[in-house]
Amino acid sequence: MRVLVVNGPNLNRLGRRDPAQYGSRTLADIEAAVSARASERGVEVSFFQSNHEGSIIDYLQAECEAADGIVINPGALTHYGLSLRDALADTGLPIIEVHLSNIHAREEFRSVSVIAPIARGQIAGQGWKGYLSALDLIVDSLKESR
Ligand code: DQA
Repeated sequence: MRVLVVNGPNLNRLGRRDPAQYGSRTLADIEAAVSARASERGVEVSFFQSNHEGSIIDYLQAECEAADGIVINPGALTHYGLSLRDALADTGLPIIEVHLSNIHAREEFRSVSVIAPIARGQIAGQGWKGYLSALDLIVDSLKESR
C-alpha cells in the first residue's frame, strides 16, 4: 500500500512562515513524523512539494497508477486550484485534504475549498498532527476495503 503525501505552494517555508498559524515544525520534520507513522502502519509513503500547480499535476499523473491514496495540503491552491482539483479527481484515488490552520476561522476566502467536494474528508486546524490523522484515515479505509 502506497500513499502520496503532497504539499502545495509555500509549504516548503514551514518553520519560518507565520508560526502562529502554521507552527514551528519544518516540512522535513512533518515528513519524518509521517514516515515514522507509515512504518508503524506498514505502508509506503512518497513525498512531493511544489510551488507550481502544473508540477503537482504532473506528479499526480505520473504516480497515481502506482499509488493507493493521497494526503494533500494544497496550500492556497485549495481556494482556486481547479486544474489541481480535476487532476486529483482524475486519479480516482481516495483523498484526504489537510490544513495546518483552521481555514474556516480565518479570512473568508480561505473557508472555500474547491478540493473538498472531491475529497473523502478534510482535516483543518490540528497543526502537523493533522497529517498523521490523514494518513491513518486513508490507511484505515484502504485496509477496510481490502
Ligand atoms: C494552508 C491554508 C491555506 O489557506 C494557505 O494558503 C496555506 C496553508 C494550511 O495548511 O493551513 O498555504 O493550507
